[in-house]
Amino acid sequence: MAEKECQPPVLIDEAALARRVTELAAAISADYAAKQPLALVGVLKGVFIFMADLVRQLTVPHQLDFVAVASYRGTDTLPGQPQLILDVATDLAGRHVLLVEDIVDTGQTVSCLMQLLAERHPASLRCCSLLRKPERLRQTVTVDYVGFDIPDVWVVGYGLDYDQQYRSLPYVGFIAPSPT
Ligand code: IMP
Ligand code: MG
Repeated sequence: MAEKECQPPVLIDEAALARRVTELAAAISADYAAKQPLALVGVLKGVFIFMADLVRQLTVPHQLDFVAVASYRGTDTLPGQPQLILDVATDLAGRHVLLVEDIVDTGQTVSCLMQLLAERHPASLRCCSLLRKPERLRQTVTVDYVGFDIPDVWVVGYGLDYDQQYRSLPYVGFIAPSPT
């Protein structure tokens, strides 16, 4: 499906995204006011727009870093063991670390990344995800900050892709059911 041929229907519009990101930033700022130093670790590429909006509303000092994992290629690909293709550039030991994801689907990626980050001896470790698909969860993962629980559909936009397309849509749209 070529991007130009289709504008995916809206699941979460821009105003709802903005409102929820503001709420998440307020909650995180309150929780980390006395927990410093704070390091946010974003999961590329899908998180880049959410993270940019979130961090600009944080009122607590923080540093930013990123990891990248390869796990999906499109809706027709089953989830596999996520592969780390970019690691953080900074030492996380003694820092309060908040992993920031675009979406938790089966939970495998977040679960692996939380394990990996825990080995870096952070002072604390939590997780924030803009989206979560509760029907698809196959791992026990605690997501400390969730933007929206969504149904089992493939979502795009606001950073999320289908075969590297649609990331720049300003809203979260949907294009198909998730692979089973
Ligand atoms: P999990 O390991 O199954 O939880 O999958 C997490 C990763 O799969 C996310 O970080 C996304 O990169 C990708 N993913 C899962 N569902 C979607 C979706 O609906 N749209 C776009 N990417 C998705
Ligand atoms: Mg992701």
